[in-house]
Amino acid sequence: MSEDWPPLPEFIQTLRCDLRPFRTADADEVYAYRRDAEIVRYLQVAQPFRREDADVFVATQVLSDWRTRCVWAVEQDGRVVGGVSLRIASWKRRAEVGYELARWLWGRGLMTEAVSAVIDEAFGRLPIIKITATATAANVRSIRLLEKLGMQREALLRQHWVHGRRVLDEVRYGVLREEWNQFAAARSEQLRNQIS
Ligand SMILES: CC(C)(COP(=O)(O)OP(=O)(O)OC[C@H]1O[C@@H](n2cnc3c(N)ncnc32)[C@H](O)[C@@H]1OP(=O)(O)O)[C@@H](O)C(=O)NCCC(=O)NCCS
Repeated sequence: MSEDWPPLPEFIQTLRCDLRPFRTADADEVYAYRRDAEIVRYLQVAQPFRREDADVFVATQVLSDWRTRCVWAVEQDGRVVGGVSLRIASWKRRAEVGYELARWLWGRGLMTEAVSAVIDEAFGRLPIIKITATATAANVRSIRLLEKLGMQREALLRQHWVHGRRVLDEVRYGVLREEWNQFAAARSEQLRNQIS
């Protein structure tokens, strides 16, 4: 049974990007980064990703129920370059995070920043116990991102993911509220030291 939790904010600002709900007009920009086979390699989406798939993608996000599935478009310099999603299961007091970023921006810590801001909001505003994430074991960038956020590997599911002709292992990560509080405190301390 779903509990009546307040909705998370639709607009979140981080140091380098703006997070806001997807709009129908974003399809061209989504297509510009999702047409890259490397981006969708480990995602359960149509491959190759066509222009019409981008229309379906944004329409799905626009129609999504914000109380149970928040999906933020990640905007940089006024352009949509990725997304962060949070599926909220209030009856389990748990949420699952997902993310993707245009390849031309990889390796700059941008998505770590965006996901971190979403987790801050989720733990800050909702009585969630744990936030989880799922990746294929081969998705080393995604796994590194989760570990940078202090997430713990909780499971390895062998040959769990069928993607076209590939059969892949899946890993599950999680971070508990108290772990996140410690992580956030250490992060603030680090920032203070950098400034002083
Ligand atoms: C996963 C993704 C969002 C990461 O974005 P990003 O902006 O590159 O992430 P970050 O820069 O914050 O962190 C990536 C880390 O992976 C590391 N990395 C890159 N290539 C690596 C490799 N081959 N092996 C190990 N680590 C690697 C980077 O060095 C970086 O770590 P560092 O900051 O300690 O140097 C991006 O790669 C993406 O959109 N992938 C496609 C969609 C996807 O797979 N989403 C996740 C589904 S679970």
